[in-house]
Amino acid sequence: MSVSVVILAAGKGTRMKSKTPKVLHTISGKPMLFHALDAATKISDDVTVVLHHQFDRVKEAIESEYKRVNIHRQDAENFPGTGGALRGIDFRHDRVLILNGDMPLVTTSSLLRLTDAGGDVAMSVIDLEDPSGYGRVVIEGGEVKEIVEEKDCTPEQRLIHTVNAGVYCVRRELLERYIPQLSNDNAQQEYYLTDIVKMAVDEGRHVKPVFVEEEEFKGVNSRVDLAHAEEIMQRRIRRYWMMEGVTMRLPETIYIDCRAEFIGECEIESGVQIHGRSRIENAHIKAHSVIEEAVIRDGSVGPMARIRPGSNLSHTQIGNFVEVKKSILKGVKAGHLSYLGDSEIDEGTNIGAGTITCNYDGKAKYKTIIGKNVFVGSDTQLVAPVTIQDETIIAAGSTVTRDVPTGALAISRTPLKIVEGFYRKFFNKGRQ
Ligand code: UD1
Ligand code: CA
Repeated sequence: MSVSVVILAAGKGTRMKSKTPKVLHTISGKPMLFHALDAATKISDDVTVVLHHQFDRVKEAIESEYKRVNIHRQDAENFPGTGGALRGIDFRHDRVLILNGDMPLVTTSSLLRLTDAGGDVAMSVIDLEDPSGYGRVVIEGGEVKEIVEEKDCTPEQRLIHTVNAGVYCVRRELLERYIPQLSNDNAQQEYYLTDIVKMAVDEGRHVKPVFVEEEEFKGVNSRVDLAHAEEIMQRRIRRYWMMEGVTMRLPETIYIDCRAEFIGECEIESGVQIHGRSRIENAHIKAHSVIEEAVIRDGSVGPMARIRPGSNLSHTQIGNFVEVKKSILKGVKAGHLSYLGDSEIDEGTNIGAGTITCNYDGKAKYKTIIGKNVFVGSDTQLVAPVTIQDETIIAAGSTVTRDVPTGALAISRTPLKIVEGFYRKFFNKGRQ
């Protein structure tokens, strides 16, 4: 833990065309800045994030999840640019790793390659077929001599395909001396962090290029990049869980939040989405079901079911077109077309097709409690608050507006009337 980390995240992210700050756009359920913070906090106990654009909003988001991250406000009016971003930060350790907030795919092992590279400055470089938009890196004799921003390039420099990926590991002592000396005498009139390379070289220091994976270090600048980064992350997440014993049918069609968790042997069919901090344990999630921040243990869900936040299902079978919200189900079967919201349902209970918990009266939400071994007939409405005790039968088509005691039958029926010969009379067909 002998390195300080600073994450640059003050920029506006204009190309996202969004009211949401770029670094708060999510990838696999988490703001992209948090992915960078996760990597950073794994290797350092001194992590600082530089903010400016929508300062309060981003600061609040960070502080809601990370208690020990320092926030630094850049004076971007007077000192714009990546060099300006680093003014006035105190670092605790002798070396400083600088990375960007829009690199959600970077892994700790790649960051460690930079911190382990040695020398006075190590910097990440990539060879790109299309280097446009990036600073070009001039390498001679295996060492970096200079970084030239595209807008400042000579026509020959523009042809260089080795580019600056934007992550550096610098000796703190050098950084503290160089940052105040930076000038904004360049095409963008910004303070370029990249100029510290030339300063180091002019002093006879060694700047090591570390060639890194393009996939990990390419920044997210547009929503196209965002989608692409998410695809890569999804591939990683799925691969990880398959290696942990989860079977996936047509994995490319499955979406899994980076905070979701699987335990034991699970099977996930095609088109399934698993959001939030869901926990799936020894369960089978069938095609096109959506699980949102729910716990599912020893059972099956779907196809085409939706299990919403606050649900905890154990030893339960949920079938097609069933929606469950904020409900605790233990040993329940709900095979078809139902809505179970704000409910608690106990072992051995069967929920017939078309059962609806009427949990909302337009003002407040109410609970439905159903005991053990209850048979709920099809097309039943349970008007909450209501309690159905153990070993009861609710007849099909009933509207239950009162509590049902143990052992009882609840039945509500409008009498059925049969009118003989009505059809022909009504449509006036033939003789009567
Ligand atoms: C920078 C590098 C360029 C490199 C590229 C890699 C400089 C001068 N150039 O380009 O050589 O190829 O990154 O992506 O450093 N930021 C701030 N404050 C600012 C400006 C930017 O915190 O005043 C942050 C941004 O939020 C972003 C990061 O710094 O996370 C990089 O900024 P960006 O504008 O994307 O990079 P460039 O300046 O284009
Ligand atoms: Ca810029």
